[in-house]
Amino acid sequence: MTVTFAEKLARIPSYEPGASLDDARERAETADAIKLASNESPLGPHPEVVEAIAAAAPGINRYPDPEARLLRTRIAERCETEPGRVAVANGSCEFLLAGALALCEPGDEILYAWPSFSIYPYMAPLSGAREVRVPLDDAWEHDLDAMLAEITAATQIAVICNPNNPTGTYLPVERIGSFLEQVPKRTTVILDEAYVEFQAVDDPGASVDLLADFPNLVLLRTFSKIYGLAGLRVGYALGSPQFRAAVDAVRQPFSVNAIAQSAACEAIRHQDDVETRIERNLVERLFVEEGLAELGLESADSQANFAWVSLGERDEGEVVASLTKAGVAVRPGTPLGGPGNLRVTYGTRAENERFLAALAEAI
Ligand SMILES: Cc1ncc(COP(=O)(O)O)c(C=O)c1O
Repeated sequence: MTVTFAEKLARIPSYEPGASLDDARERAETADAIKLASNESPLGPHPEVVEAIAAAAPGINRYPDPEARLLRTRIAERCETEPGRVAVANGSCEFLLAGALALCEPGDEILYAWPSFSIYPYMAPLSGAREVRVPLDDAWEHDLDAMLAEITAATQIAVICNPNNPTGTYLPVERIGSFLEQVPKRTTVILDEAYVEFQAVDDPGASVDLLADFPNLVLLRTFSKIYGLAGLRVGYALGSPQFRAAVDAVRQPFSVNAIAQSAACEAIRHQDDVETRIERNLVERLFVEEGLAELGLESADSQANFAWVSLGERDEGEVVASLTKAGVAVRPGTPLGGPGNLRVTYGTRAENERFLAALAEAI
């Protein structure tokens, strides 16, 4: 007799992470590889966040606060909502997986657009639900009417990624509001806003205001991107206290560790630094967009910290391989659901120059 694992395992896709810096170095033909493959911040955390991490270290013989009260209070203050509406998790990914477990039974449906964030395909096989994918439109945007048409009595979760990963496209909050008006109240709408701070269309508070009218809405946000804390794994959800209780019921009690709680508590105090990061990203976005246009390449209208670049008739594998050899790690479009494209994160100016030079060579 040998050990057997759950049958559902075969249905769960295997996550293909972006190359780590070590991988990128190994594959490159140069000594100094750069990683523009995972939509991370090219900047480390604020220096006072690093100090907070050091200050928390001697206390880690104790378990963290399972309710993360200080962090939830700071997030609530920042987002102008009540702490009861704030949940925190081991990265916002944890909410996607725990949300599916807490909301879905076999036979239920989970609706999302495609291409979109690569964790959504885990939600259905993990929970036993059936997934329903709706293609993005020609501008790589969510087709909300087509999504509405797919909602049935079985739709337990509809996910909207805004700005969308991997395309960077953004739908104004007004359109999300009219979508919500047409979604049945029994369907939970998860608005994944991992990149919301980077968009220059709406005030990031605008989607938070929707919570008052739509108790079935959950916003997901993260400290991984704008705050530069991807390695610590802290995400938060704004939604109903019932959503928080449901997620708590299916996950372990101490999911956000003590160091991560301290770091996030400090990071959120530095909104001046956040503003600087937003401006820096915008400047680099324009620089990369201009460089791509000069190379005759089209990219989707990005409101995030990355570009989705169409390679036209060129061979995606060859272009990505050439960039990899030149020490520039990006994400090929095929595993992300968009063959013939690549996704590149905006880096520092030097990194972006290097990407554009290597891309010019590759094409
Ligand atoms: C759309 C989207 N949602 C969620 C996440 C996950 O963020 P976290 O690091 O908080 O788990 C990412 C990370 O790349 C993302 O692109």
